[in-house]
Amino acid sequence: MLGIESSCDETGVAILRWQPEAPGRGLLAHALYSQVKLHADYGGVVPELASRDHVRKLLPLVREALAEAGLQPADLGGVAYTAGPGLVGALLVGAAAGRALAWALGVPAIGVHHMEGHLLAPLLEDDPPEPPFVALLVSGGHSLLVEVKAIGEYRILGDTLDDAAGEAFDKTAKLMGLPYPGGPALAKLAEQGRPGVFRFSRPMTDRPGLDFSFSGLKTQVLLAWQHSDKSEQTRADIARGFEEAIVDTLLIKCRRALQATDTHRLVIAGGVGANRRLRAELAAAGEKDGFRTYFPRLAFCTDNGAMIALAGAIRLAGGQHQGEAVEVRPRWNL
Ligand code: KG4
Ligand code: ZN
Repeated sequence: MLGIESSCDETGVAILRWQPEAPGRGLLAHALYSQVKLHADYGGVVPELASRDHVRKLLPLVREALAEAGLQPADLGGVAYTAGPGLVGALLVGAAAGRALAWALGVPAIGVHHMEGHLLAPLLEDDPPEPPFVALLVSGGHSLLVEVKAIGEYRILGDTLDDAAGEAFDKTAKLMGLPYPGGPALAKLAEQGRPGVFRFSRPMTDRPGLDFSFSGLKTQVLLAWQHSDKSEQTRADIARGFEEAIVDTLLIKCRRALQATDTHRLVIAGGVGANRRLRAELAAAGEKDGFRTYFPRLAFCTDNGAMIALAGAIRLAGGQHQGEAVEVRPRWNL
């Protein structure tokens, strides 16, 4: 299975030999090209530039992955591509290339939901989680708590009412003058921050429910930053306070979701899943409360082709595939 990811600013390609008992062992190759430098001058992703760069990089990456796997195109048995949600032009590049390759090779193609890709990414690790589990999906575009009764059977328990967790990281970083992409930069800065100097609220944890809201935190940080001495140490202290607020909020809601569903396995995925404090705090809470945590390796938290190849392989094995139209869904609920 060839997997193609092109929903935003990363071109990801991977080749996976499907083996249900240990999916990660079947990963033969994966290649990624990040457009971060291209968009840095603009402080965010420029959709048209993203599409054009996917056009330039996609086929060379496919060749690279085939070479790494020691395969010829004719060895491929199927092609999976991200069909949404994401930037329409960027998605169309992956969909058109994926569909065309599948047609030329006479193999089935399948359009994959980007968030299902994220959700399944922990299955690429050794000792993968078995459903039922609860998944916390935290990326630049989404903050979801999902009950996974079986692969493909998802119930949304909680969603964000405004900014996604990653978006909150990015916007907060930007307003404190950190370079794009802000999330990882803010997390790095937070390591130098002192605990307890700034304390921000844990939004929506004082009432029942599993939804999130992160946009108010951003405003709290803005006010704190504007009224501060703007020194490097203060910036780090604010970053620390902000990160703690987000991590704490996510932890509280995860605990609630596990209790509400009487589940003992928690999967964390999506770009914010790469956050060290989040990983450490959730793992520690799991040991204390008696639930197990499952994370993808760091490279498979953020966007990648491997998760798309896996989601596509699972769906194809389940008998699903697509007609020949190149169709994408920029907005698409899981
Ligand atoms: O999953 P992803 O690569 O793309 C989307 O599907 O959105 O997630 C990207 C998001 C960005 O908002 C980025 O700032 C955030 O994940 N992110 C992080 C970290 N690494 C990436 N946020 C906090 N801490 C990190 N270490
Ligand atoms: Zn993503």
